[in-house]
Amino acid sequence: HRLAVIVVAAGSGVRLGAGAPKAFVPLGGSSILEHALHAVAGMAQPPRVIVVVPADRCAETQRVVERVIGTGEVIAGGPTRQASVAAGLRLIGDADIVLVHDAARALTPSALFDRVADAVAASGNGAVPGVPVADTIKRTSAGGAIVATVDRAELSAVQTPQGFPAGQLLAAYAAAEREVTDDAQLIADAGHPVAIVEGDPLAFKITTAWDLRRAEDLLRTTAL
Ligand code: C5P
Repeated sequence: HRLAVIVVAAGSGVRLGAGAPKAFVPLGGSSILEHALHAVAGMAQPPRVIVVVPADRCAETQRVVERVIGTGEVIAGGPTRQASVAAGLRLIGDADIVLVHDAARALTPSALFDRVADAVAASGNGAVPGVPVADTIKRTSAGGAIVATVDRAELSAVQTPQGFPAGQLLAAYAAAEREVTDDAQLIADAGHPVAIVEGDPLAFKITTAWDLRRAEDLLRTTAL
């Protein structure tokens, strides 16, 4: 198979409040994005790498990609994650399996990329890492009242990288009629099955200052 990995890193990071686009926030001596790229560099089969960043970060990102991975393409993202993935999809070339990864999941192990890529290769369909939901989840009204309890046994918190056959992903993006928060939703809209593979707690998304602190602590205290 010919693999491509799109790393989306064009978000503003407003919720992190670190005064820089999230992927460029320092983490353990480098940046959130650089950690994510190291994970891609550790994959069993080297993929074509596409990194999507804010327009004014393309030049510096190209240098980081060359240092960490060797070769890779850098392109400016769009106003939404979906637009940023669409920008990356223009550069996948002849890849037949595409993984889409949030740079914000900086500590994701290389092995999780391999697991997702292997699952797509074996099944010919999408594969998405998921972890069980630990909390009891309530559906609430706009006013904040509890409306229902969702049976957590049937819930999975999904992560990235999410992997798909390239043809499915390109067609799903071309046909997209709504704004979604992950790629698997568009694949499901197009009528294709997507399997959950075992996720990894280290693939958590750095969203808030608390998450950043957790990532810093893990890097300091754990042999990752
Ligand atoms: O905002 P959120 O944490 O959900 O973003 C998930 C990933 O999508 C992040 O890595 C972020 O950089 C990326 N993103 C993007 N372009 C946007 C918004 C988010 O590449 N316009």
